Amino acid sequence: MVSDYTSDEFWSGIRRPVEHAATMPAEVYTSPAFFEAEQRAVFDGGWVGVACAADVAIPGTVLVRSMGSRSILLSCGRDGEIRGFLNACRHRGTELLDCDTSDLHMIRCPYHRWGYGLDGTLVATPKFTEVPVEGFDPDDYPLKPVRIDTFAGIVFACLDPTIAPLTEWFGDLAEKLSGYGLDRWSVRAGGTVEIEANWKLLTENYQEYYHLTWVHPELAKVSRVKDHYRFQGSGMYCGQTTTPVSGDDRNDWLAMPAAPGLGPSDSQSGRHIALFPNVMLSVLPNHAFVILLEPLSPSRTRERYAWLLPPSAESIPEADFELTKTFWIDVNNEDIDICERSQRGLARGGFSEGRYSVRFEEPLHRFANMIADRFQRIDRIPAGDDADSSVRFGDGVLPL
Ligand code: FES
Ligand SMILES: [Fe+2]
Repeated sequence: MVSDYTSDEFWSGIRRPVEHAATMPAEVYTSPAFFEAEQRAVFDGGWVGVACAADVAIPGTVLVRSMGSRSILLSCGRDGEIRGFLNACRHRGTELLDCDTSDLHMIRCPYHRWGYGLDGTLVATPKFTEVPVEGFDPDDYPLKPVRIDTFAGIVFACLDPTIAPLTEWFGDLAEKLSGYGLDRWSVRAGGTVEIEANWKLLTENYQEYYHLTWVHPELAKVSRVKDHYRFQGSGMYCGQTTTPVSGDDRNDWLAMPAAPGLGPSDSQSGRHIALFPNVMLSVLPNHAFVILLEPLSPSRTRERYAWLLPPSAESIPEADFELTKTFWIDVNNEDIDICERSQRGLARGGFSEGRYSVRFEEPLHRFANMIADRFQRIDRIPAGDDADSSVRFGDGVLPL
């Protein structure tokens, strides 16, 4: 029997306050039926991170991205503007592009060579009107636009016209990150990896630091559990900060010089933000590491990752960058291993609902409720911590 994922009953465990809540059932990580419903509810039904803005900043670049039920194009026009379109020709619906492309002046359909400007206008229809086609006006057949906006140097797309603008979606986060000027940072390196785990396990793992000491003994030296604090205001995100970023006996994260002009807190902190639903953004004083999750199946996820550097660090020698890069790859591999193991347990271990650590895993409860809201069509932006939350979630206020 397939569960009703829109029912109050299905979500009753995570709707209770975190002290009483149950974790999400195994089905949400393993069931093909849930996966399909989730593609519609979450990925067709809200803002989704699709690319680093720096990857589509050069005029003539067109990226192809999969998002929920759709394939979309992100184009950078000759005017420098980034636009989004559905990836289907307006003649008879053929997929226009099947891979990222640069230096384009026109998006050409391979079938009958209809051509579209990078702003989506239909500009070429070879031989189409050799015999007049009644009432045909190319202006009536531009590429179908997709809502696009950028936030913190990341391009987000939204297929649902009723969803609030991106600035409202992320609430106070723009203000929290304003000191970094992330939209001016550029991509230094990046890659993709496919992982045998549900996408939610990857972001949930990112959101909690309960596992830090055991899964990442080396990371725990520069990012000590005791230096983690809440960084969670109102908005569709779960956040924490490490303040200060501890040097200790390893200096991997601090090998490169900090961006000039950061305030006292930004210049000594690591911000670790899970932007709902599929972006993990870690911002340090001298670099950022971004992961975009693309669900491929219930048990398979593509990660697109990239390192962003501030304008002041663009000419940093490769050797100085290498230390930071290798460190992240090691940490990410540790996370991937444990998430794949989680997936295997959830798939085959007869697991039913568990419980959350209130101290360390409250963001997972917040995240699960955001998922439930998408399924139940409840348009609500979660509030931030209230005044007494430090008692439960940590030992007090950011030191800076
Ligand atoms: S389907 Fe694209 S030109 Fe015919
Ligand atoms: Fe981790």
